[in-house]
Amino acid sequence: MSEKLWAGRFSKALSEEANDYNASIRFDQRMYREDLTGSMAHAEMLAATGIISPEEADSIVSGLKGILEDIESGKTPIDPACEDIHSFAEQELTRRIGDTGKKLHTARSRNDQVALDLRLTLRSMTEETVLLLKDAVNMLCEKAKAYSDAIMPGYTHLQRAQPITLGQHLMAYAQMLLRDIGRLNDAKKRMNVCPLGSGALAGTTFPIDRHMTARALGFDAPCENSLDGVSDRDFCVELNAALSLIMTHLSRFSEEIILWSSWEFKFIELDDAYSTGSSIMPQKKNPDIAELTRGKSGRVNGNLITLLTMLKGLPLAYNKDMQEDKEAIFDSFDTVKMALGVFSPMLDTMRVNKERMRKAALEGFINATDCADYLVGKGLPFRSAYKAVGALVAYCIENGKTLESADLSDYKRFSELFDTDVYAAIDLDACVERRACFGATSPKQVLRQIEAVSEQLKNA
Ligand code: ARG
Repeated sequence: MSEKLWAGRFSKALSEEANDYNASIRFDQRMYREDLTGSMAHAEMLAATGIISPEEADSIVSGLKGILEDIESGKTPIDPACEDIHSFAEQELTRRIGDTGKKLHTARSRNDQVALDLRLTLRSMTEETVLLLKDAVNMLCEKAKAYSDAIMPGYTHLQRAQPITLGQHLMAYAQMLLRDIGRLNDAKKRMNVCPLGSGALAGTTFPIDRHMTARALGFDAPCENSLDGVSDRDFCVELNAALSLIMTHLSRFSEEIILWSSWEFKFIELDDAYSTGSSIMPQKKNPDIAELTRGKSGRVNGNLITLLTMLKGLPLAYNKDMQEDKEAIFDSFDTVKMALGVFSPMLDTMRVNKERMRKAALEGFINATDCADYLVGKGLPFRSAYKAVGALVAYCIENGKTLESADLSDYKRFSELFDTDVYAAIDLDACVERRACFGATSPKQVLRQIEAVSEQLKNA
């Protein structure tokens, strides 16, 4: 155990169990870069405001830069015996440059320091996740283009409902992921205020320049209230909520991938590189990646509850409970990034069985709505048309026929308005082609959506 930053008031060292329980270095060491760059900005500001001398600041900044380089090259391992990454950085700096290192913590507390580090770390994680989401949306657009006229059954209640195109189905997911990008970017905007200078809770007596550090670290402004600066973790909750929705979307998609790759559906086949086998059943090809993604949505939702529960009873300002924020939100980001990293190539490499999809759409009276719409075109009110076709469908089921194979005489039992042109009206391609209103499933509309989404992606 290395010497505590707060050792002065105590006559005894922390017990080993208490020390293990208290320490956060195991999971906060991944913020080393943010911690060191935050400290550099702080030291430069201390010099600019005359709180320390320019020489002292130079020595501190070059010391911190050296630590950063040496951690990155592997020359200086982070000491796991330190309480947290902040203690490690200060200890290492002082070891390198001597007593000047002890001036770094002037006008600062670990409370504003950790709030700063976390915002900086999560800002990069958010940006990385947005990039992965953009790749996924681009991939979906490309796939949707390739399958803009590939007909498949559309479902409600998992019952065949109306024919759609695979392009339309894929673009529905593109919309979800596009909203996910928007949510992350929104959360980032609110998160991007700088807590540094809030001190332990009440600000500081030193004449610091909070605007200077905020600017230097890429924030839009310093936070307005010091108590809020050190006690706000809303951004963790907001980000985790956005991550939960990403996982929810991937999980719904996973469910479909799993169904579609079953023998019963056989709409798709996953590439061998993204499937696994069974140790006992030689014939098996399992969609483990999709199943894991569906499963992992649980842990991200769990992290959201962890964060909300951790926060809800906390009096202002900092409380140690807040140390629990990092493992939860880091795990959510790690999980989403891993999921996106494998999900996109899995989709990209899947083979689509267009014939099977089309065949499934030919069964199950999926064009019954079109048949009713046909009668509406002949002047029948929709509700009456609906009833006539309902009776026709029941008749077909009873007599082992489909709408395609039923004779015109069968049709005429239910409405005199039916004529030979009904067969063209219920033709699968025509059904899809004619769903041409804005946002509908026709190939033209799918292509329009792809254009629109690609355009939105440029500004996202
Ligand atoms: N490890 C702490 C955390 O993650 C850093 C802040 C500690 N501050 C304190 N006053 N004990 O929240």
